[in-house]
Amino acid sequence: MKTETIILFLSCYSLIFSLSPQATGPNTATWIGDSLPYIGTKTLKQLTIPGTHDSGTYWLDETPMPGDSAPWIEAATVVGEALFVPTSWIIKGWSHSQDQIFYNQMKGGMRYFDVRSGWDNKTQTWVVHHYVEGRPISELLGNISQYLQDYPKEVVIVEMTHFDGYPTQANIAQLKNMALQILGNYIYPINTAFNFTLNDWVNSGKRAIVTMESGAADGIWPGECIYNTYADSPVIKTMINFNTATVAQYMNGTWANELFKVSWTLTPDADTVFQGAELGKPHTLIELADSGNPYLPQFWLNMKAQGYRVGNILIIDHYEQSSIMQVIYDMNGIPVNN
Ligand SMILES: *[C@@H]1O[C@H](CO)[C@@H](O)[C@H](O)[C@H]1NC(C)=O
Ligand SMILES: *[C@@H]1O[C@H](CO)[C@@H](O)[C@H](O)[C@H]1NC(C)=O
Ligand SMILES: *[C@@H]1O[C@H](CO)[C@@H](O)[C@H](O)[C@H]1NC(C)=O
Ligand SMILES: *[C@@H]1O[C@H](CO)[C@@H](O)[C@H](O)[C@H]1NC(C)=O
Repeated sequence: MKTETIILFLSCYSLIFSLSPQATGPNTATWIGDSLPYIGTKTLKQLTIPGTHDSGTYWLDETPMPGDSAPWIEAATVVGEALFVPTSWIIKGWSHSQDQIFYNQMKGGMRYFDVRSGWDNKTQTWVVHHYVEGRPISELLGNISQYLQDYPKEVVIVEMTHFDGYPTQANIAQLKNMALQILGNYIYPINTAFNFTLNDWVNSGKRAIVTMESGAADGIWPGECIYNTYADSPVIKTMINFNTATVAQYMNGTWANELFKVSWTLTPDADTVFQGAELGKPHTLIELADSGNPYLPQFWLNMKAQGYRVGNILIIDHYEQSSIMQVIYDMNGIPVNN
């Protein structure tokens, strides 16, 4: 082999290696605080924060959330009947996208939470949901508050959306008050110009940004400050092409005033759910995610080669079985061998 070839081979190898799960790097539990020498002077618009999609689906019961629906729910009924199992099992399998409680997700490095908040009128509580209901929102926010208390240099972004279950304005005000009660001491003053640095944010002690899709008031940030994108496809190639195009558009200066969110997620459709009854096909959302997650490092290398940033928030399903943290360290210029 010619020397140039060997050098090229070695440098490619080390880049891929640095993105592999074996590479070291900051402890994921304290990575923000540990990385301040590298990223402290950057603003959120200059960073990419890792998070989970449908963050609260680590536990779901069998109660449908009124108003939340998907084209594949009917397919789940057919598959359930064909396999002689309750439809709710099939629905849960395609709704459950994370395994860990929020405290553990934060330990694993996640700093953004997608909190789909629904009103359960029967129990008069706000619960997380994804077609079916999960734990009370108060527990999810309680985990975040506990983490911020235990780890004084860590930050978090919480987005509360999908207010299903037909809540009244008074119910929504109740959600806002609950968020203020649990996280209020940690909420950073609204600054949608995003012209504060990570150092400013950490040093203020007010290390949470909490948004609501409606009813934001009293320091809760407006939902519009985060711009969401997702491919809405179960096909890996379609998802990659979608993200390639949206990142290019973002880099063009579109969405300059929001936190731009990129979803490394596959979304089931009716066919995915039907095929889930076959051998050798994903049977659950977690398995579908596991099929797409391995493509993230190469996608990042392609974006990096063009000088692109993959949004300000990057979310994923089944994060702990992915390379998201290695990718995030590289995206933010954090050395992995320190
Ligand atoms: C919600 O519950 C309250 C109190 O039980 C009841 O008055 C109201 O009619 C219910 N709303 C709906 C939409 O079922
Ligand atoms: C954290 O979440 C779990 C699961 O939802 C819950 O059992 C626990 O009480 C929560 N902890 C706090 C401090 O809220
Ligand atoms: C941040 O932006 C706001 C609104 O444009 C402006 O009033 C403020 O002076 C800016 N702060 C800094 C530190 O640049
Ligand atoms: C980015 O902007 C350039 C110049 O205005 C334009 O030619 C190109 O089509 C844009 N690309 C995307 C992906 O929006």
